Amino acid sequence: MAVRKILTVPDPVLKQVSTPVEAVDDELRALLDDMLETMYDAPGVGLAAIQVGVPVRALVMDVSAEGEGPAPRYFVNPEIVWHSEELSSYQEGCLSVPEQYADVDRPAEVRVSFLDYDGQPQEMHASGLLATCIQHELDHLNGVLFIDHLSRMKRDMIVRKLTKARKAEAAE
Ligand code: NI
Repeated sequence: MAVRKILTVPDPVLKQVSTPVEAVDDELRALLDDMLETMYDAPGVGLAAIQVGVPVRALVMDVSAEGEGPAPRYFVNPEIVWHSEELSSYQEGCLSVPEQYADVDRPAEVRVSFLDYDGQPQEMHASGLLATCIQHELDHLNGVLFIDHLSRMKRDMIVRKLTKARKAEAAE
């Protein structure tokens, strides 16, 4: 396992649409293992493969509360098969949009189908933080970031800030 580099805004790779995984094999599991380690190291609660530069439809997540111990989840080729009409709002952040947070409205509950770590088809009902996290991560697979859900003004402000921070970093 290895910690990989997390891409950040405005890296254009983050806007790519990821392709479906053809087989859950050892190569994919090695990627999932690296993603999980990278996510814990950051630390964060979710990570999509595209965030480490690999454009395949795979996510890792761990939304367990502090002190609960690790509860890693793996989602390969996830699809939302149902979502509630009711929305809920969470303050979201993203490892690819460092130190920026904003409230985003999303369906409060979702049902998601996916392949697990062993390639077995699964279906799961999610609510609360898990539902938000799944939708946030699934957006990544379609090249969508949480800031794309904000007003253009707010989004531009965040992108400008991060572009400036990156330039300053590069100049050091
Ligand atoms: Ni994110």
